[in-house]
Amino acid sequence: MPAREHIAREIRDRGGWISFARYMELALHAPGTGYYAGGARQFGAEGDFVTAPELGTLFGRTLARQLAQFPDLPILELGAGSGALAETLERDYSILETSAALRARQSQRLGRRVKHLDRLPERWRGIILANEVADAIPVHLVAWRAEGVMERGVTVQDGKFAWQEKPASEDLREEASRIQVPSPYESEIGLAARAWMRTLCERLEHGVIFVIDYGFPRGEYYHPQRSTGTLMCHHRHRAHADPFARPGDEDITAHVDFSALAAAARDAGADVLGFATQAQFLVNCGITEVLAEANVENALVYAPIAAQAQKLLSPAEMGELFKVLAVGKGITAPLLGFARGDRSHAL
Ligand SMILES: C[S@@+](CC[C@H](N)C(=O)[O-])C[C@H]1O[C@@H](n2cnc3c(N)ncnc32)[C@H](O)[C@@H]1O
Repeated sequence: MPAREHIAREIRDRGGWISFARYMELALHAPGTGYYAGGARQFGAEGDFVTAPELGTLFGRTLARQLAQFPDLPILELGAGSGALAETLERDYSILETSAALRARQSQRLGRRVKHLDRLPERWRGIILANEVADAIPVHLVAWRAEGVMERGVTVQDGKFAWQEKPASEDLREEASRIQVPSPYESEIGLAARAWMRTLCERLEHGVIFVIDYGFPRGEYYHPQRSTGTLMCHHRHRAHADPFARPGDEDITAHVDFSALAAAARDAGADVLGFATQAQFLVNCGITEVLAEANVENALVYAPIAAQAQKLLSPAEMGELFKVLAVGKGITAPLLGFARGDRSHAL
């Protein structure tokens, strides 16, 4: 059954309305019909988007310099996509992947070097990596209106998905009350992402969690001018804002509220170890030295690597919008990636 029918049936079964978070969960993650259930066709030049590890090995080799601070800690990557980053990082490596199709793709690419876990371990001593995973975690949509805080959900009207608002639940109202915005105003609240971060930190006994994604600290996220939120869909390298256009066939994402993730981590007893733009983090890790290892004399070799650097670092590309948040337990040494330009104070 296509995703559209699957979702419409659930809306009917639940009395004509589901939260947007449930819609997003079904559109992205429902086994069989969700977008990520569809395998690896989403990734790379032929797909819908290109992530940093998909550009080439420069990102992974630079990140490896940060991870070299913890040579004895095993790595757990969450949501490994096509397996590109795991291929670059030659370490004791496990993957937790929610999509069965992507898990199969990763096994095919990486063989036995990488272990797949079926669930998050009860206790973890090591590194956890999540690159472009937090933006795929379903968000609740909230509208601040004159009559109060409303939740935006999905109904079916004349055979099509349509928006419908209801008074927000207590959990959402409580979160919304901590956010200062003008009214009317619409945005997202990532309740599931907060819970995800809390669980990761509760299970972490010792080590560091790196969350790398596009997003902002709270003050910028809920800026008065960003009054329609950050929800975005990606299809064949085109971005648009209509999540009802191709459910199951395109990516739906929201920017990450890094202040919320940092607060959830602290609640679970972890320390914030650093927060910086991706460009600053990679420069601190020594991306220029990794670049210098390439043969500058040979344009055929050098040009593609220089193009990767431009994409990863340029403020017009991934350099500024993408951020790196590191939280951890039992780590006292300062992290290389935040040696300069740490913006933890902005969280
Ligand atoms: C946009 S892709 C990024 C893939 C890869 N990290 C990269 O940078 O190329 C999102 C990945 O996260 C997985 N995923 C989404 N939610 C997840 C979750 N809660 N736990 C683990 N994996 C998840 C998806 O199946 C997919 O592999």
